[in-house]
Amino acid sequence: MAGIVTAAQANADLVSAVADAEAGYVAANPESARLAEQARASLPGGNTRTTLHYSPFPLHVRRAAGSRITDVDGHTYVDFINEHTAGLFGHTEPVIQDAIRTALADGTVLGAPSIYDQVLAAELQRRFAALERLRFCNSGTEANLLAVATARAVTGRPGLMVFAGGYHGGMLYFGHGASPINIPFPVVVSTFNDPERAVADLRAHAGELAAVIVEPMQGAAGALPGTAEFLHALQAACEAHGVLLILDEVMTSRLGCGGLQGRLGLEPDLVTLGKYIGGGLTIGCFGGRADVMDRFDPARPDAIPHGGTFNNNVLAMAAGSAALSKVLTVERQDAMNARGDRLREGLQALIARSGLPMQATGVGSIFGLHFHAGPLRNEADADAYAAGRQAEIDGLKKLFQFDLLAAGQYVTRRILGNLSLVTSDAEVDGLLAAFEEFLLTRGGLIRQALC
Ligand SMILES: Cc1ncc(COP(=O)(O)O)c(C=O)c1O
Repeated sequence: MAGIVTAAQANADLVSAVADAEAGYVAANPESARLAEQARASLPGGNTRTTLHYSPFPLHVRRAAGSRITDVDGHTYVDFINEHTAGLFGHTEPVIQDAIRTALADGTVLGAPSIYDQVLAAELQRRFAALERLRFCNSGTEANLLAVATARAVTGRPGLMVFAGGYHGGMLYFGHGASPINIPFPVVVSTFNDPERAVADLRAHAGELAAVIVEPMQGAAGALPGTAEFLHALQAACEAHGVLLILDEVMTSRLGCGGLQGRLGLEPDLVTLGKYIGGGLTIGCFGGRADVMDRFDPARPDAIPHGGTFNNNVLAMAAGSAALSKVLTVERQDAMNARGDRLREGLQALIARSGLPMQATGVGSIFGLHFHAGPLRNEADADAYAAGRQAEIDGLKKLFQFDLLAAGQYVTRRILGNLSLVTSDAEVDGLLAAFEEFLLTRGGLIRQALC
């Protein structure tokens, strides 16, 4: 595969640079192009998961091992997407694979509690103090829908407060307005990282609100960490007004042994989890205060029913149990997050040296990269900088992805990435070197487009 273009080859203007980089991508990936075209016959735009779409077509991946993935055209990349944080353990982790094989041999549709369900539940409780009781489901989306529905059922109030830019799943998405397929709960949209505004909004609507749902770091909005001041102010206001605080740690729970709630000393009423907790298999989890969650006790006369054929799907229960009890030690998790801190510091140092209008965001093993100058606390900050520059920013993101793919680094178009337990120091250095090269060859274009 071609490496990154040299400074001498770098194009004179952004539009032709993007066109050339895209032409190189198309030429290098004929089999991905063929499969993408073929998929259009049955899947809208060839796609069954919007997150995975990028133009002109996404790479189709054939297999993965350790920290690497190999596409259908035979290129191998260092994986900095890691299944959007669900791939925490790296690919082909042997302990998890053994657990899956054992469970598979014993049958997968048992129609009964399995021996693994309570093991995984206890492992999660050991890490997340807020989980006095919990229930499993099949995705982070489902976990959030169930948490909100639970809050509505137990408080008898209908409303939900959310934050612009928040992503809580396909039917609870508040980026640049609300998704047309959102569940039609009455919603109050407030401003992330603006404690005064959030508390005022909550106070004004407390009588109608069942819950506030918030990510301690907004993921899809670009890895924007919530400040401790903001999150604690929200928690205090929820408590003062009897509104339940739902902390969506579907993406961020990997950022410390007890998630970001542990790192920040938060005590949410309800917590949602997903992604890696099933060892790489399909899962979601919602839980929290015993007095709230015990409403799901089927023996109670006022029990809330919550079925779900695959709530305890045995492969995920077995894989998650093995992953959390045998693979995800505190030491390994801390090392991964420290490696992520080093990556982000490295990215930031290269940006500072270049003087370009970019910045790295995130916490621990999750990172974002932005073509943005000035404060970046929330969606409003991002939109204010992008106003009048959106086409240039979109072009630069494309260029970044094509250049980095050509250098063997598997990265997203929106530049939101993460490390796994098996991402090595050398691989972090490799990403930093590729980014340095990108700044060298494309720095003139970035300056021209944005300054
Ligand atoms: C913060 C957050 N909440 C919820 C979800 C939805 O989880 P899932 O994709 O498992 O439905 C995601 C997925 O990226 C997420 O990042």
